[in-house]
Amino acid sequence: MTLKLVDMTEADTAEFVNVFSSAFAGGPVNRAMLPLGNTPEYLDFLVQRELKTFHKRNHWRLAVVDSDTSEFIGVALWSLEDEVALNTTPEPRNLYPKGNAEAKTAFTGMIRTARHAVMGKERTYWHLNILATRPGHERKGAGRMLLKWGTDKADKDGLDTFLDATPVGRTLYEKFGFSVVREQDLDLSPYGVPEVYHSASMVRPPQGQQPT
Ligand SMILES: CC(C)(COP(=O)(O)OP(=O)(O)OC[C@H]1O[C@@H](n2cnc3c(N)ncnc32)[C@H](O)[C@@H]1OP(=O)(O)O)[C@@H](O)C(=O)NCCC(=O)NCCS
Repeated sequence: MTLKLVDMTEADTAEFVNVFSSAFAGGPVNRAMLPLGNTPEYLDFLVQRELKTFHKRNHWRLAVVDSDTSEFIGVALWSLEDEVALNTTPEPRNLYPKGNAEAKTAFTGMIRTARHAVMGKERTYWHLNILATRPGHERKGAGRMLLKWGTDKADKDGLDTFLDATPVGRTLYEKFGFSVVREQDLDLSPYGVPEVYHSASMVRPPQGQQPT
């Protein structure tokens, strides 16, 4: 298996959605937000939403492709949060009508509040929005390649990198020099999932060296 890091094009959007939606599908937040799971209708909704924001300023979509099969096995969405981005009110996103809107709002609100509390709105930083490996292809190095793309940029720019880690992502991020700076719990029982989701805001200062 030969893995290759590529920039995504709009034509890759369905694959991008396919990878990240399947990677997160079993997690408690997704079970709360999407009681019906990843239906074809929901996947189509995500594709349309991603296409609308495909050319958003300072956003980069990357994929790791298996050169032997051309299959996408990992994807990432990176952004550079600068003064313009941090002081622009985000356009309200359409909510999936068959999803649990309260759960979605509680989750995205928690994540956004944590990021602004940690990073503020004054300084520029790199931000990992999405990192996902296709189920069945974990531990082959895709996550590492996608993470390195952004942390290399941050090192070159001399900037911090921010991300909000799921419990499974944390070990990878720690290997790359990220530290937990804030933790938050979201009780999902009001949304029909009797679990508490634990998320960690992690920050990595710029470095001269990267793990290989
Ligand atoms: C987290 C995730 C992106 C990791 O992707 P990956 O392609 O498996 O990562 P890599 O193969 O590059 O792993 C690199 C290193 O990270 C660590 N790592 C990755 N997954 C791990 C896990 N489940 N448990 C412990 N360590 C892990 C290991 O040190 C690994 O190196 P090793 O395999 O040589 O021991 C993937 O598990 C995933 O998509 N999970 C579901 C979605 C998610 O939680 N995304 C993170 C959002 S913040």
